[in-house]
Amino acid sequence: MEKYVVSGNKKLYGEVTISGAKNAAVAILPATVLVKDKCIIENVPAISDVTILFKILEGMGAKVRFLNASTVEIDTREINEAVVPYELARYMRASYYFLGALLGRCNEASVSMPGGCDFGVRPIDQHIKGFEMLGAKVSIEKGMINAKAEELEGGHFQFEKVSVGATVNVMLAAVKARGLTVLENAAKEPHIVDLANFLNSMGADIRGAGTDTIKIYGVDILHGTNYSIIPDQIEAGTYMTIAASAGGNVLIKNVIPKHLESISSKLMAAGVEVIEYDDSIRVIREGQLKAVNVKTMPHPGFPTDMQPQMTALLCLAEGTSIVTEGVWDNRFRYVDELRRMGANVQVDGKIAVVQGVSAFTPAPVKACDLRAGAAMIQAALSTDGVTEIEDIQYVERGYENIIEKLTGLGANIRKVEMPDPNLLTSAG
Ligand code: UD1
Repeated sequence: MEKYVVSGNKKLYGEVTISGAKNAAVAILPATVLVKDKCIIENVPAISDVTILFKILEGMGAKVRFLNASTVEIDTREINEAVVPYELARYMRASYYFLGALLGRCNEASVSMPGGCDFGVRPIDQHIKGFEMLGAKVSIEKGMINAKAEELEGGHFQFEKVSVGATVNVMLAAVKARGLTVLENAAKEPHIVDLANFLNSMGADIRGAGTDTIKIYGVDILHGTNYSIIPDQIEAGTYMTIAASAGGNVLIKNVIPKHLESISSKLMAAGVEVIEYDDSIRVIREGQLKAVNVKTMPHPGFPTDMQPQMTALLCLAEGTSIVTEGVWDNRFRYVDELRRMGANVQVDGKIAVVQGVSAFTPAPVKACDLRAGAAMIQAALSTDGVTEIEDIQYVERGYENIIEKLTGLGANIRKVEMPDPNLLTSAG
């Protein structure tokens, strides 16, 4: 087991380059099974969620070959298995994208109920209703979700709730379905558009991704492609809040500034200087942070995956901020950890009232989930001392080379081995 050891109180300066988007990668890599050919995917982030997807693909019979550190060739011609077992699916939510992709490839799929970050109940009813609309029969037995169809046929489906995962999954299943599929109330996140662009580059005919109505004209045959994944909106946003929190002047490179608008505008309202260039963004923070109210919403609203980092920032802002979680039922569990570091935050259901303090104080804390882990690092960088963060496996699910990237900005963070608690017990 490992932990991060962070020494705070240093302003950050320099440049950091953003990797390929996790949430696009975890949709695009399963999507390669729709084709019986080779796909070359560039800008693939080196994160543990991606490593698991490669294991799942290889377990099905695909050949995965790295051409360089971020470019991978996936040959799906010999896939002979339409099952994703519990041993692999348990580690990540996006393993359920193999349901849509395998349904599209061979009209059947069997995927273990997914794992992933715990934000309260994470239902999949909209995925299932979407598959059923396409003519699939779906059952859940012994922890496996099974979907099967004689033939998938396009139809009209209105999501009852805006869901990234359901939009991705139903899109994947509909690509080769007969006729036209119309998805209404679809999610509009940048990774939905990226997935549609990837599928279109394989010969799919998807129109309207990025709006709330997506039209998918079914095609019979897809072909291999060469595609580069978009930069990670949330990784970029995280370095923005980290720079804003620690203070200093940081250039964040390889970003799409349009994807960051909701984050930039809240940071500017909080007294941070944000300068946009074509494919980079500069964050400068010298003065006192000011309180702002934030409500998370589906895209183009403020992303829920930036809520812990923004809350951690507002802990250091002068005045009272209200943070409202508009997507998940239970995404403030990490606040207890921030309180251990001196934050003054009261949570009532989906609302957090943040009373600014002048600084965080070091304390041993843990990463409750991926983005909460990033918020802990951010808070630790704003203490006058040394903070140890445990459960860092969550952070490594989604942030490529975070130690190297932060160290490159002048931060003092390192990863150290922890003694095995079982050995300690037996010795004692
Ligand atoms: C994705 C992201 C996650 C992000 C979330 C919201 C990936 C791999 N993960 O998760 O990081 O926090 O979008 O931006 O891209 N819901 C239902 N029924 C369903 C599906 C969802 O009621 O069938 C509800 C959920 O409980 C939640 C809301 O819809 O309240 C949004 O969930 P969804 O957009 O599906 O999140 P994920 O795709 O799981």
